[in-house]
Amino acid sequence: MSIGRDNWGSRLAFILAASGSAIGLGNIWRFPTVAARNGGGAFVQVYLLFVILLGFIVMVGEITLGRRTQRNPVGVFRELAPRSLWVAVGFLGVAAGWGILSYYSVVAGWTLSYVFTTAGGTFSSGISAENIDLIFLGTIASPARAIFWHFIFILLTVGVVMGGVKQGIERWSKILMPMLFILLVLLVVRSMTLENASIGLKKYLSADWSKVTGSTLIAALGQAFFSLSLGMGTMITYGSYMHRNENIVRSAGWVCFSDTLIAVLAGLAIFPALYSMPGVEPEVGAKLIFIVLPGLFSKIPFGTLFGTGFFLLLSVAALTSSISLLEVPVAYFVDERRWPRRRAAVVSGLIAFVLGIFSALSLGAVDGLSGILKIGPRTLGFLDLMDLTFGQFSLTLGALLIALFIGWKWGARALVDELSHQESGGRLSGFIAFQIRYVCPLVLIALLLYLILNPNAFA
Ligand code: PFF
Repeated sequence: MSIGRDNWGSRLAFILAASGSAIGLGNIWRFPTVAARNGGGAFVQVYLLFVILLGFIVMVGEITLGRRTQRNPVGVFRELAPRSLWVAVGFLGVAAGWGILSYYSVVAGWTLSYVFTTAGGTFSSGISAENIDLIFLGTIASPARAIFWHFIFILLTVGVVMGGVKQGIERWSKILMPMLFILLVLLVVRSMTLENASIGLKKYLSADWSKVTGSTLIAALGQAFFSLSLGMGTMITYGSYMHRNENIVRSAGWVCFSDTLIAVLAGLAIFPALYSMPGVEPEVGAKLIFIVLPGLFSKIPFGTLFGTGFFLLLSVAALTSSISLLEVPVAYFVDERRWPRRRAAVVSGLIAFVLGIFSALSLGAVDGLSGILKIGPRTLGFLDLMDLTFGQFSLTLGALLIALFIGWKWGARALVDELSHQESGGRLSGFIAFQIRYVCPLVLIALLLYLILNPNAFA
């Protein structure tokens, strides 16, 4: 099955591509938003704990499954548990790939359109908070604009994925990821030196444990899996292009570290800016970066340049993630159905595009799509529902099933064996096997049960 399969050019290439998948809108758009909604500091600490205890472990597990079988998520289960129901976990991953990509590309489309809005000097000094708000509304509530930018983004994604692993995914990740990092650091410096920056900083860093409830835990967990691209087989797929002699534990460690670093930095860029802007409600939700950051750009020297660079790189970070979302169904069609890569990419992209139209229209353009479900204080539109279903629930369930599969079906022993191929002998492999067999399933089952009993916790 592995004959003729593409491989990463080096260990660094894998780390950059996998970090490219992990680092995206999840870090810069979703992490600060979810953190703000859940009270800041305490959420951030719970999040870090989940990354180390669960995320890192599931990531090692996923990469190992992929490298071992050199196959896509459906193929993995067909090979390791033939003629069993486990294959459904693979199909759940393929569905999640489409589901997440469909709305991810809508938000990425807004980002792309903001590159042009910002470059045109719209957010130069003197613009009022109300006008910034109006510009954002104009972007998301106009059906033609929302669908147009969503389409362009899917087109870019399909274009890169058609190029394949080395020429497409690897080449782009290597240039773009380091650039994003440098720009973000510059933004953090500027944001932290704003007037009143310490108010936001305090909110972000000091933990108010009285605010931590079951829903904080659920939000932190869902965010960790989303941000690390876990629970739907993305890391299985990327692991399947890895050479046998590479150190999985170390590579996974790097990916988790860089992803978390970028999320924490994004919070440092956004929280001080958020609380230093008069008149903006701290919990501005999904539109956070499209309102708060332009406010920041309008106040700093070279703001237009900074802002354009920021939205450009955020679009790029989103692109290196969206290609990994598309790669899951594409790898399935290529491996299991023997489709040419081009056809697989175009058809999969088209499915995500059509599905995404509903999300694109759910932010004001079409009333019926904007307020579908009311949970607690929040009214969820189509895009929010997709995020909840695929971005949170399906990834958490997928991660649980993958941990159960490795720990109890394939076997922790097989995991340890596979990890010990690598040069350092997989020093942590005993610990990882224990975690994946006992700790991950127990924590995930407990949280999913909590969720079933308290559906409100999801919002
Ligand atoms: N990790 C990406 C982000 O943080 O933006 C989103 C994502 C990519 C989620 C790939 C899941 C996935 F499989």
